[in-house]
Amino acid sequence: MSFSTLLQTLQSIVGPAHVLIESADNDLVQYVRDWRGRERGVALAVVRPNSTEQVAAVVKACAASNKAGSGVSIVPQGGNTGMVVGSTPDASGTQIVLSLQRMNNVRKLDGGNGTITLDAGCVLQNVQQACFDAGYLFPLSLGSQGSCTIGGNLGTNAGGTQVVRFGNTRELCLGLEVVTAQGEIWSGLSGLRKDNTGYDLRDLFIGAEGTLGIITGATMKMYPLPAAKLIAFAVLPSLDAAVSLLQLAQKHLSAGLTGFEVMGQFALSLVGKHFPQQRVPFLGTAFSGVVAPYCVVLENSDQESEAHAKAQFERLLEEAMEAGHVLDAVVAENMTQAKQLWHIRESIPLAQAQEGLNIKHDISIPVSSIPEFVRVTDAKLAESFPGARLVNYGHLGDGNLHYNVQAPEGADQAEFLETQEPGVNALVFDMVMQFQGSISAEHGIGSLKVEKLPHYKSPVAMELMRTIKRALDPQNMMNPGRVIEV
Ligand code: FAD
Ligand code: MLT
Ligand code: ZN
Repeated sequence: MSFSTLLQTLQSIVGPAHVLIESADNDLVQYVRDWRGRERGVALAVVRPNSTEQVAAVVKACAASNKAGSGVSIVPQGGNTGMVVGSTPDASGTQIVLSLQRMNNVRKLDGGNGTITLDAGCVLQNVQQACFDAGYLFPLSLGSQGSCTIGGNLGTNAGGTQVVRFGNTRELCLGLEVVTAQGEIWSGLSGLRKDNTGYDLRDLFIGAEGTLGIITGATMKMYPLPAAKLIAFAVLPSLDAAVSLLQLAQKHLSAGLTGFEVMGQFALSLVGKHFPQQRVPFLGTAFSGVVAPYCVVLENSDQESEAHAKAQFERLLEEAMEAGHVLDAVVAENMTQAKQLWHIRESIPLAQAQEGLNIKHDISIPVSSIPEFVRVTDAKLAESFPGARLVNYGHLGDGNLHYNVQAPEGADQAEFLETQEPGVNALVFDMVMQFQGSISAEHGIGSLKVEKLPHYKSPVAMELMRTIKRALDPQNMMNPGRVIEV
């Protein structure tokens, strides 16, 4: 089957208006370039189905065309906010971008069961709002929540800023509906919390980055809304102090600790530089003549009352200051201030993108080893890449750092990336391994890390993954070249 015959078939499935083809008048950049601007690919077409049945028919048509030798493959796409070049087509012009954006309905909200069942293309912020309007909390929170989708969150097993209490997207998911690589519909949308009837198919598709099938629907957990939420922004003398503060916060707040984010001074200074309208507390403030290197955002969600939350927070901060873990802190007095403080943290990736291209490392290390990892790796980087700037921040409560490297001040950023990225990556990832960590905590592998994965994962694990991929997608048609090469 030729590409033009395939495109006609796809038009008959989703309607001609929803098969987009790049032309002088139709710039598909939002679908074919990744969020970080690292790659721009070429799509055979962007196809926008509006139902699970349409997705299944599109996959069946592509599978038939592929069997006939066309070489077509499918890249599932949600909000295209991924960090590892996994949701955009390659340069071959043989890939269909399958956008789930039109599938954006809430199917069912079941308060008694504490669940919400959704189309995969629902935008995360709309899901949070739908739950809130019904009196529930949907805890998944990412800086990209205004455009990322539940399907993408599941595809990447996204983390974000509430993992310390609620876990990754996987832990929030009770059931999935998936279109397989053969175009069959697997309906596993149960809202069951217990179901030991064999292999866990749901968990295979979560975090698979679209390489095993297309998630079209999901049943997710909801939680009670807290009675009060308090946010503090604290300035700390060291990363060791941040780890001590985390332990203290866990002791004082227990399950009330819903957020614990660390931010290096340089990361915060980029927010100050690129978004001067945001007032960053303690930016450049010296304590005993020294600018403190780290700040932390802490969130306390209380099921009792605002007064209870305040009393708990005060005790925690007092003890932390007495112990020298915290130098100073501000506590938001109302929701507007709380949002402003969170916004500073969430603006770091945007500020870093404004600063220019950079080398991202989304790593996890046992929390207790993080200070030593940073000390040793900072020193090694300074020695091998003099002047390179470290943009260090992340989800300390989960042992997840965004340990990013920016070119030296005034250097050509693109040239730095081209010439130094392999060396910088090797140095950082080797250190991550020495500290028993992972080279991808929450962003996934995509195509950016696909070649590195075999160096950092055991041969047995790689072979098991290859076996699964071959079994579920024998034509290698689902997002090929991502996560694992077969
Ligand atoms: P896309 O980017 O469209 O796709 C991501 C991957 O999932 C691709 O491999 C794609 O093929 C696959 N996929 C998409 N939809 C489906 C589907 N329906 N079925 C199967 N596979 C699918 N990530 C975090 O983990 N934590 C953060 O705190 C965080 N903060 C961010 C802040 C900013 C400002 C930005 C820009 C990104 C951030 N991210 C974060 C990364 C990104 O938002 C997440 O990875 C998110 O889950 C991607 O969702 P998406 O809908 O944009 O997916
Ligand atoms: C974050 O935590 O802000 C995100 O994972 C995005 C990023 O690090 O770029
Ligand atoms: Zn993150």
